[in-house]
Amino acid sequence: MRKKTISFELQVFETMDELGPEDKKLLQSAIEARKNAYAPYSKFNVGAAVLLQNDVVVIGNNQENASYPSGLCAERVAVFQAGAKYPGIAIKSIAITAMSENHMVDSPAAPCGNCRQAISEYEFRQKEPISILMMGEKGEVIKCNSLSDILPLGFNNTYL
Ligand code: THU
Repeated sequence: MRKKTISFELQVFETMDELGPEDKKLLQSAIEARKNAYAPYSKFNVGAAVLLQNDVVVIGNNQENASYPSGLCAERVAVFQAGAKYPGIAIKSIAITAMSENHMVDSPAAPCGNCRQAISEYEFRQKEPISILMMGEKGEVIKCNSLSDILPLGFNNTYL
């Protein structure tokens, strides 16, 4: 038996004003996108903005459903739309932000496990890392350099 440690580095910014211009603009797009979330059940509004290699930004927000599992998270709405509209164009980064109508979300909202898996398909295909920016409604912004950092030991098509 041998032991192995998996670790990764992330960047923490006190507020979004500390971000570089490209990241700040992308996060602003995610905040805008969040406003159109359809989340009457959870009251938890999420916005996502995907920056493509061709500099196009594709947005998404969560779309809920009376049949709860039929809804979809903001991140998947955005990356699937990017894949549908710009097939083969690599994703540079994704910004995610969340707010609740019930309480202040003041720490970064990380993508759920299903969204991590969905995004990992794109990262694996393009063989270039996708950076992930995360923020609540206010406060700290976290940036990690690759989706695989937040999905260690991920499953991909080489296992099939
Ligand atoms: N949600 C997202 O949009 N992204 C995530 O990564 C986590 C959760 C949405 C799904 C649902 O509409 C609401 O937030 C509460 O779970």
